[in-house]
Amino acid sequence: MTEDQATDVLYPVPERLLDPTQCPEPYISSMEQYQEMYRESLDNPDQFFGKLATELLSWSKPFHTVRHGGLHHGDVAWFLEGQLNAAYNCVDRHAFATPEKIAIIYEADEPNQSENITYGELLRKVCQLAGVLRARGVRKGDTVAIYMPMIPEAAVALLACARIGALHSVVFAGFSSEALRDRIRDAKSRVVITADQGKRGGKTIETKRIVDEAVKECPSVETVLVYERTGADVPMTKGRDVWWGEEASLHPNFTPVEEMNSEDPLFLLYTSGSTGQPKGVVHTTAGYLLGAAATVKYVFDYHPGDIFACMADVGWITGHSYIVYGPLALGATTVIFESIPTYPTPSRYWELIAKHKVTQFYTAPTAIRALRRLGDDWVKDHDLSSLRVLGTVGEPINPEAWHWYNDKVGKNRCAIVDTYWQTETGSNIITPLPGAIPTKAGSATLPFFGIDLAILDPVSGKELIGNDVTGVLAIKRAWPSIARTIYGNHQRFLETYLKPYPGYYFTGDGASRDKDGYIWIRGRVDDVINVSGHRLSTAEIESALIMHHAVAETAVIGAHDEVTGQCIHAFVCLKPGVSKGPAHATDLNKELVIQVRKVIGPFAAPKKIYLVEDLPKTRSGKLMRRILRKIVAGESDSLGDISTLADPSVVEVLIAKVGSS
Ligand code: PRX
Repeated sequence: MTEDQATDVLYPVPERLLDPTQCPEPYISSMEQYQEMYRESLDNPDQFFGKLATELLSWSKPFHTVRHGGLHHGDVAWFLEGQLNAAYNCVDRHAFATPEKIAIIYEADEPNQSENITYGELLRKVCQLAGVLRARGVRKGDTVAIYMPMIPEAAVALLACARIGALHSVVFAGFSSEALRDRIRDAKSRVVITADQGKRGGKTIETKRIVDEAVKECPSVETVLVYERTGADVPMTKGRDVWWGEEASLHPNFTPVEEMNSEDPLFLLYTSGSTGQPKGVVHTTAGYLLGAAATVKYVFDYHPGDIFACMADVGWITGHSYIVYGPLALGATTVIFESIPTYPTPSRYWELIAKHKVTQFYTAPTAIRALRRLGDDWVKDHDLSSLRVLGTVGEPINPEAWHWYNDKVGKNRCAIVDTYWQTETGSNIITPLPGAIPTKAGSATLPFFGIDLAILDPVSGKELIGNDVTGVLAIKRAWPSIARTIYGNHQRFLETYLKPYPGYYFTGDGASRDKDGYIWIRGRVDDVINVSGHRLSTAEIESALIMHHAVAETAVIGAHDEVTGQCIHAFVCLKPGVSKGPAHATDLNKELVIQVRKVIGPFAAPKKIYLVEDLPKTRSGKLMRRILRKIVAGESDSLGDISTLADPSVVEVLIAKVGSS
């Protein structure tokens, strides 16, 4: 237990946030008000969410039925009969009302190259690209793969798909060509949107080259649309590759939206589960958009005029919900940051905040930890007075990092919102609300509206009632932005999320509810590893390693890491006859790291590789990763029962191996 949990310090809402002379009045400004609204969201969900959906979204045809179906049958549906378009909600309606308002601040890799895009301009860009997609044969229900650097055109690409009812499938640009290939194939995308090159931290990324490699083995791809980010001379395949600029200029800069039903899918986004095969999580138009918009409003207490800066990549759900859909649905100004927190210096974030007068800033614990290590000088002399809400997401935040964020960045006058959620939840589900919920360092605190939480006994599945309990985190009823299915595999959706504990959505995370009812996320209880907030499955990395010709068998685990939260350790058994001598081992280690980078991407590279003779397995052949985790964590004295192992003597050998490396 950490010190903060032991002492249970409760940090009140900073007074400044409740002082109308200093800050706009928070939408929810007391614990009582939160509790009342939360109760209402569970007791009268039709009324609560019906009202919210009418207030926050524009409908071309109103809905009549707020909810249908649920977790029992996996047939969740919201706002039936209603019609709307996400791009209309995020762009048109604001462009009509305030065309000169800034929609996107583009903070380019080089700090002196930032640019503003108004809602009027955004609408024109989105319409032209929608025209290009239509001309290339993309229709409602088709999927479009997007593999882009962090530039405004990434948002334009998402919104152009939404405009014509095509599902975007964004693949994080850190993924390798093989990972991209698999995702293009699984989604059967016929069009890929990309850029010639990317720029990140002063380095050039050969984006188009990666796409070329991927597309070689994707016969379904008919068009590769290339945005000119650097203007480099990249190879273009005739008949397939076209320049974004040239094509867009052929299309009118207004084109009507496709009317979508509430439950029509808006996008799919691949994420890792406990098997090697990534899942294309599907979100729908109305429920998802409402979740994103409602949380920007209440969790980030967004007020008109605020500048919203989420530092995630658009390739992850955080970028979808908190760079693009949430802020734009509310007509906010959103920041697209192309660089890294340490380029050109570790002051980059703080310069960005001061320069653009950012009011809401959202990043990951791993970035906070890395910057904290570099010392306070980098953050000290910047004007951070515009900030009101500081968010974190992606992994548990340790109290030390929480305090540093609160003291050095927030100067103890901002709300810290530790937002817990997942690709599948669509938007924040457990989080403080800035003006209402006192915080504890390291706790995501309390559920958002409509989230009916349960902590279950992992074995019996029984709900653990009351406070001071630990178990697995589940949710008892559907909320608007819950994912509806896995692309092309509904059965897998049911099996992963709804069947483990019937009647509940199973998050895959362990959690405790403390004596005050506050939730503490304990991390994954399945074989998912969280490296710098990037979600990876052990099976995915293992299957990448096993493709190497020298590898017979492998086991991958997540180990604790000071900066990245977790890091990857791989145990590898070589095929008979492969030399294990020290000279060869060094080369092999390098090759294996390259192998993982090639199959998945650089962010999945193992930090440590142990070449071993044998792995701990039960007599029936089941790999006991738990034992490996304990050995690496230095907890060899509490391995538990190892008598079920086929050969318990491997344990001693492994302890010695890990100890000596
Ligand atoms: O383990 C939880 C962790 O990230 C997982 C979800 O990963 P992903 O779908 O990639 O989405 C990340 C961004 C929403 C969760 O199952 N996680 C996310 N937020 C938190 C967290 N763990 C602790 N505290 C959080 N605030």
